Amino acid sequence: MPGGLSAVIDSTTAAALRARGSAKWSAPGPDGYGAGVAEMDFGAAAPITEALTRLTEEAAFGYLPQRLADELGEACAHFQRRRFGWEVDPAHIRPVPDVVKALEIAIAHFSRPGSPVIVPTPAYMPFLIVPGLLGRQIIQVRMRGDAGLFTFDLDAIDAAFRAGGHLLILCNPYNPLGRVFSRGELAGLTAVVERHGGRVFADEIHSPITYPGARHIPYASTSDAAAAHSLTATSASKAWNLPGLKCAQMILTSHADREQWERMGPLASHGASNPGVVANIAAFRHGGPWLEEVLGYLDGSRRLLADLLARHLPQMRYRPPEGTYLAWLDCTAMGLPGSPGELVSERARVTVVDGPAFGAGGEGCFRFNFATPRPVLAEMVEAMAAALVTG
Ligand SMILES: Cc1ncc(COP(=O)(O)O)c(C=O)c1O
Repeated sequence: MPGGLSAVIDSTTAAALRARGSAKWSAPGPDGYGAGVAEMDFGAAAPITEALTRLTEEAAFGYLPQRLADELGEACAHFQRRRFGWEVDPAHIRPVPDVVKALEIAIAHFSRPGSPVIVPTPAYMPFLIVPGLLGRQIIQVRMRGDAGLFTFDLDAIDAAFRAGGHLLILCNPYNPLGRVFSRGELAGLTAVVERHGGRVFADEIHSPITYPGARHIPYASTSDAAAAHSLTATSASKAWNLPGLKCAQMILTSHADREQWERMGPLASHGASNPGVVANIAAFRHGGPWLEEVLGYLDGSRRLLADLLARHLPQMRYRPPEGTYLAWLDCTAMGLPGSPGELVSERARVTVVDGPAFGAGGEGCFRFNFATPRPVLAEMVEAMAAALVTG
């Protein structure tokens, strides 16, 4: 990797990360390691900090002006076109504070009232929490796994729609399983959704984070049917590490949905912050070089993790992800005396997210965030091995 970012990242110690006091690094306590929360330890891109400095100098801390919301739509649409070849009308993009809020809106205002929500599992934890907060049932549908490669179980998804489900949550790239779905897989899903008049909430927050060999295809771009039945949520917040700034985008590719959005009124979706909006604009417009450096680093790290596990924890199964910086580690062959994520968090003091939190199919596994300096990654694997192998 050219440039100085990898050297800067590599020289960051666990002690320095603990001292920064992020959510990820506070969770494990004084001497522990943070690999749970989905944040990266790589600082921020200069165009983003510069944009935030300008905003601060102007003290632009009022409510979000329409001019900034419009600029966000243009920057996001331009990024979608440049990176994924998807032609989105900027006027179809709405600011929201975050993707979880976008999910709440999709369930509350765009799915059949009272209908269960269909969630492929193992699933990003809020997908299993938010529907309940809105008084909805969840139909969990396990992904089909083959040697660590997970695909949709279309028959089971079909059954979930027949059982009354209406909105399906599609996470692509997939947290926690690391998949980036092919055009054929997305088309298979579309056929099932269409058969039942269903809806799709496409969470594409990780879309810029893919590795060689995988290409993100926006779900709504795959066909007119997919565009008509889906709502897409995205943000610069994962790829440029900005989740605390509160800005995401909802892309509305159906005319009827745009009318419904107007009927909802502004309070239903308000909350994107000026700093978040200018940071997203800067990321989409000028964050490319930083992103490419980070992706090169993460690509090396996902492979380094395979080497480290082969050396220290050979029975732990890991398939390097196609996208995201999250590894799904399968310990079912290890015969451990308890839930592996709990053992790792308690004994190795490496805070991870334990498999059962991801719903059906999570048992015996855990999610591990490898977006950290490589020397720290090596320390974490050694600590896990010491705790699991001798423990
Ligand atoms: C798949 C997925 N969706 C949504 C989120 C949360 O996004 P936000 O902070 O915009 O709510 C995350 C965060 O890790 C995520 O991985």
